[in-house]
Amino acid sequence: MTSFSTSFSIIKPDDLHVHLRDGALLEIVAKHTARQFSRAIIMPNLVPPVTNTQLAGEYKARIEKAAGQGFEPLMTLYLTDNTEMQEIQKAAENGFVKGAKLYPAGATTNSDSGVTDISKIYHVLEEMQKQGLPLLIHGEVTNADIDIFDREKVFIEAILAPLTAKFPDLKIVFEHITTKDAAEFVAASGQNIAATITAHHLLFNRNHMLAGGIRPHYYCLPILKRNIHREALQKAALGDSGKFFAGTDSAPHILAKKESSCGCAGCYTAAYALELYAQVFDKAEDLSKPASQAKFENFMSKFGADFYGLPYNNEQITLHKISQKIAEKISTPEGDIIPLLAGEEIDWSVVYAA
Ligand code: DOR
Ligand code: ZN
Repeated sequence: MTSFSTSFSIIKPDDLHVHLRDGALLEIVAKHTARQFSRAIIMPNLVPPVTNTQLAGEYKARIEKAAGQGFEPLMTLYLTDNTEMQEIQKAAENGFVKGAKLYPAGATTNSDSGVTDISKIYHVLEEMQKQGLPLLIHGEVTNADIDIFDREKVFIEAILAPLTAKFPDLKIVFEHITTKDAAEFVAASGQNIAATITAHHLLFNRNHMLAGGIRPHYYCLPILKRNIHREALQKAALGDSGKFFAGTDSAPHILAKKESSCGCAGCYTAAYALELYAQVFDKAEDLSKPASQAKFENFMSKFGADFYGLPYNNEQITLHKISQKIAEKISTPEGDIIPLLAGEEIDWSVVYAA
């Protein structure tokens, strides 16, 4: 007797937060993202950062070349203390820049040129509000005396809540949220405030990273939190508010930089992103049900497009409930990238055209 496993198709999704890097790494990781996603919001934390429309346009061309046809990079600008209002106007005129990223200086990888004090960019935020250009926020305070597990919560109280009061119509994406506090803040805010959620923050809590040994490939920023937070993120991702959507924060680093006495932050998920998100939705809501498949499609392919005012993609992509083993490593000319869950089995596989 043949048994049929679940297989279903959704609109080819958008990754509303990804790091593609540059040079040799870009050549490899862009193809992973483009296999699973039609479009992606490209984070600008290169060295040096993508601080203006000219640089964003040049980076866009390199991404298109590396990704191949059919993939649209949605570019972002990196805000600094010195960003000028004219740059925002230029970005809005050109159209291919879809947002500007706020990294509090020192918050994460390549954030040294970030904003040191939010009040320094009020004039820029004013212009973004006027132009309808979304502000994409890495929401963590950077004070050394604030516990790393509290940095997102404190950011909401100290920076984000006052910011939304000062700029009530500014479109904001609270990126890669990791706490119940962030999920509740976004849910309670107006329709101009949304959030991305990564697959790893939906799948794991801090025990996965720290209990029984330190697992550096689970180390990312914002850091994995307690399980109650993961549960709140799952509830948000499965909800129908339209305010929560997929953003992998896939962030490739080579092995030597991750497995080190001072390992850097980032989980590489781009090559298996859809399967990882499917794993979450299936465990919570059983993806053999059409209603659950529709929720998955909303989160992966519709809510983000709606927020950014983009049409839905024309292509479809098919997932099959057939297990596969995640690659042990992905070789690049700069060294190996170890994907999250390297060497482990996952339940789902994307069906790629031969
Ligand atoms: O874990 C992270 N890695 N979080 C970030 O905010 C940046 C990213 C990176 O660029 O490696
Ligand atoms: Zn990121």
